[in-house]
Amino acid sequence: MEVLTMAKAPGYEDLRVVTGSRSGVTIAIAVHSTVLGPALGGARMWHYDSPELGVADALRLARAMTFKAAAGGLDLGGGKGVICAPSPVPPEGEPRRRILLDFGDAVESLGGAYVTAEDVGTGAADMAVIAERTAHVVGLPGERGGSGDPSPVTARGVLAAIRACLEHRFGTYSLSGARVCVVGAGHVGGSLARLLAETGAELAISDLDPARRELAEELGAAWLEPDEALAAECEVLAPCALGGAIDARTIERLRCRIICGSANNVLADERLAAELDSRGILFAPDFIANAGGLINVYAELHRLDHEAVQLLVEGIGPHLLQILDAAERKRITPLAAAQELALERLRGSTAAAA
Ligand SMILES: NC(=O)c1ccc[n+]([C@@H]2O[C@H](COP(=O)([O-])OP(=O)(O)OC[C@H]3O[C@@H](n4cnc5c(N)ncnc54)[C@H](O)[C@@H]3O)[C@@H](O)[C@H]2O)c1
Repeated sequence: MEVLTMAKAPGYEDLRVVTGSRSGVTIAIAVHSTVLGPALGGARMWHYDSPELGVADALRLARAMTFKAAAGGLDLGGGKGVICAPSPVPPEGEPRRRILLDFGDAVESLGGAYVTAEDVGTGAADMAVIAERTAHVVGLPGERGGSGDPSPVTARGVLAAIRACLEHRFGTYSLSGARVCVVGAGHVGGSLARLLAETGAELAISDLDPARRELAEELGAAWLEPDEALAAECEVLAPCALGGAIDARTIERLRCRIICGSANNVLADERLAAELDSRGILFAPDFIANAGGLINVYAELHRLDHEAVQLLVEGIGPHLLQILDAAERKRITPLAAAQELALERLRGSTAAAA
């Protein structure tokens, strides 16, 4: 393993960029903070135009993980691993295995400061390969004692967050008769749609993949094409596809009262949070609403049982409600209130350790 960088990036505890000895690929691991616990963040396997872009992604995502864990009340720090895939076609078979073993060595070299998990481009089976080289990995398959696919847990957390938003905005936790539009019916969105179908909500589903229409038919939900979905008149818009769905252009078309979904970085620009506020649209910070995925791997790390996970996931609702109430009191956006909460927790821990 050739170490290219071990220098600290300003504001980060560690940044390790290596060339895998078996695979030759560039691997970047950024440790933003271990103030609250080991820096946990998934292993992203993605094809970047340059290794520098992969390193920049690791840095950006590691910092976001610190905020997500801190605001979620979890004793975890923030880190991220990035594997710069050699081509846009995901590697399979022996080449993939070599990459994952190299990644495992890089994780191990950090001595537990960074704990990896699945992310875009990796899954539970990949974590099992990484585990051949390091113990600092979670998200292992269920049969290996791991927490497996986090999506159903994430979906339950999003549902709890939606109920909190309804309570804050309309004074009721009930979804009965509420029009909810799920945009992106993949792992999380599909699970969420199934949960919503049992609540009496008036459900609409949208996905780029026309095959997902079957799910809409099965659940008796309306089907919307993606370009109509963002403009759907509804109480709740639940973005569960990729990030950046709300941008300066799409914001003009919104006709929802609440935005609460699983997609990370739903706002293309954080400044849009204030714009949503001024339009009377309640925006649930995505890193609060989708914390179920992180809770799932946190539970694996701390060997929490099913009931403890349930409690933590259901706790997303009251936690979000507190943030929404604080935002209203302080006349700031919910996003700003959530960020403030994360910073307070980090400052509190730093002061306690001093
Ligand atoms: N999986 C988890 O537990 C978890 C946890 C936290 C956050 N998230 C975030 O939630 C989002 C969804 O994750 P996932 O695991 O369900 O991914 P996924 O790939 O299984 O599902 C995404 C779905 O969105 C669809 N899609 C993509 N672009 C679209 C568009 N423009 N309009 C409509 N549909 C579109 C895709 O066809 C796919 O069906 C991601 O942003 C992810 O980062 C996931």
